[in-house]
Order: sequence, then structure tokens, then C-alpha cells
Amino acid sequence: MVSYKELGLVNTREMFAKAVKGGYAIPAFNFNTMEQMQAIVQASVETKSPVIMQVSKGARKYANPTILRYMAQGAVEYAKELGCEKPEIVLHLDHGDSFETCKSCIDSGFSSVMIDGSSLPYEENIAVTKKVVEYAHRYDVTVEAELGVLAGVEDEVEAEESHYTKPEEVIDFSTRTGCDSLAISIGTSHGAYKFKPEQCTRDPETGLLIPPPLAFDVLEAVEQKLPGFPIVLHGSSSVPQEYVKIINTHGGKLPDAVGIPEEQLRKAAKSAVCKINIDSDSRLAMTAAIRLHFAEHPEHFDPRQYLTPARDEMKKLYMHKIVNVLGSDGKLG
Ligand code: G3H
Ligand code: 13P
Ligand code: ZN
Repeated sequence: MVSYKELGLVNTREMFAKAVKGGYAIPAFNFNTMEQMQAIVQASVETKSPVIMQVSKGARKYANPTILRYMAQGAVEYAKELGCEKPEIVLHLDHGDSFETCKSCIDSGFSSVMIDGSSLPYEENIAVTKKVVEYAHRYDVTVEAELGVLAGVEDEVEAEESHYTKPEEVIDFSTRTGCDSLAISIGTSHGAYKFKPEQCTRDPETGLLIPPPLAFDVLEAVEQKLPGFPIVLHGSSSVPQEYVKIINTHGGKLPDAVGIPEEQLRKAAKSAVCKINIDSDSRLAMTAAIRLHFAEHPEHFDPRQYLTPARDEMKKLYMHKIVNVLGSDGKLG
């Protein structure tokens, strides 16, 4: 058993309480590689922002669970080396699919886990979430649960279409499970294709897709039922069109990729939404930088040559999200 406290990590409890009160959101960035981890730490130190580094089941499979855990430990030491006296870094399991996966993460040093029972029948979601909460709280690990299903694929959780969270269920669910935060469905979805073109309108001048608005009425109804309770938004990448353009004009093929407009995320961050999940935008930043680099330097083959601009671009993106969208800059300590 490795406690996250020995690794210098923190759980989400205090961080979320401050974020809800302060009207900002904590960034939850997914990471699979060393470059992503370095960029996340650099961005959070430079902006003085608390940060959640999250690991999906796919990331654990890709990078190896032990390596990722040591990378998170390294992230704390790296932040200190960069001049941050008291880093606030959470190591979080994203979309945990079973009690066993959550337990394995808690036992190996995670400070926060998500149990995603959103595809299960309501009572089964409650049962598995409660079981995870009982175990996690013994070790002061915080737990995120999910009610309502996002459109698209959530690791192994699939749904034909988005089923918004039912506000009338949230009090019963949070009371009976004891979860520390709740991911809700208000129209976001995972990946770089959040809406089908037929769900959007098209800007007549640029031809770009304009997505439909998020269901803020559902968010407001949830907030009324659970005042001050930490709410989480998944699928919150904005799919920056400048990256899509670079990718598409340098050999890539991402037709009609579309995300959540940043002004909607800014509005969400000011509410009880205190954790905003971003993965796809970092993938796009990395891919755009690498494609551009290869187009300009076809003779390069040392990974450091193309991963350096990729890492710099991700850092720029993370800083932009922290400062201009979530408002978590300057909130350390
Ligand atoms: O919610 C999904 C995250 O973007 C993680 O994606 O399962 O491909 O690592 P992944
Ligand atoms: P995006 O695909 O919009 O980045 O969402 C990531 C996410 O929700 C991770 O859990
Ligand atoms: Zn997610």
C-alpha cells in the first residue's frame, strides 16, 4: 500500500471547496506520455494553478500503471524544482470501470478516483459507487461519480445518444453514495467530434460548424438541488480550429471536427462546475505541432526535435485553458 500523501499529492476536497466558492474550475488534464506530464507541470507552476493529472484505463494500458504513478510522483518533485514551494497536484483515475480498478489505484498512490457507473442501472450505479467511496474514504482518497450518460464513447461506456442527468436524482444519489463530486451530462461528449454536422449550424463565411449550446438549465437545476456541491464536466475540449486546420493542411484528415465553445466553458467554470476535463485538445496540439514540424523539417528523425515543439505547444494550450477559460491561475495556497 502506497499512500498518495507520501508522494506529495493532494486529494480534491479542499481544492474543490475553494473552486466552487471562488467561481473557477480546476483543470483536469489527461496524460499518457512524459511530454504531456512535463507540459502540465510547467503550465501549472507558471500560472500558479492547482492541477489534476488524470489517467484513463487506456493510459494505464499504454504507459503501464507503475510508470504513470512514478511519473506523478516525479511531477510533484519537478514542480518543486521549477520553484513551486507547495504544489497542489492530484493524481486521478479517469473513468474507473470497477471497484477493483479503483482499489488498485488507491492502493498504489492515487489521491482521487472516478467510478463511472453511468451506463449501469441507477441502483447498480449507487451500489458500486458506495462500495468505492467506503474503501477510498478509509484512506482519505476522494471519489468522483457520474450520473447521466455522455454521447459517444466513454472508454468502455457506450451510449447511442446523450442522456442528460436527471436533476431529481442527484440528491438521492449523492446522499446514498457519499461521493465527493458528481460528473453530469449536459451535452458535452468525448473526442474531437462532439456534434454531428446535422446538430450544428454552419457559419456562412468560414464554413465552420457552430455547435448547439450546452443544457445550462440542467446544470442550474442540479445546482439548486445540491447547493455548493462540486460538479464535474467531462468532454470539455474546444477542438481549436487552428489546430484542426494545421493538421488538415499537413496530411491529416479531421473533417468537421468540433468542440465546446470556450465561452460556454467560461460560464460553466463560474458555476458549481469545479473540474473540467480536457484531453482531446492536448492531442490536437501535439499532433498539429508534430505535423507542422515534419513539413518544415523533413530531414529530422530525432524524436527530441519534434517532441520539443509538441511539448511547448501543449504547455501553451494548458496555460491558455488555465488563464483564459477556467480561471484557476493564482489559486495555489
Ligand atoms: O474520457 C476519455 C479520455 O479522453 C481518455 O481517453 O481512454 O483514449 O485514454 P482514452
Ligand atoms: P475531451 O475528449 O473533450 O478532451 O474530454 C476528456 C475527458 O472527459 C476525459 O475524461
Ligand atoms: Zn471523460
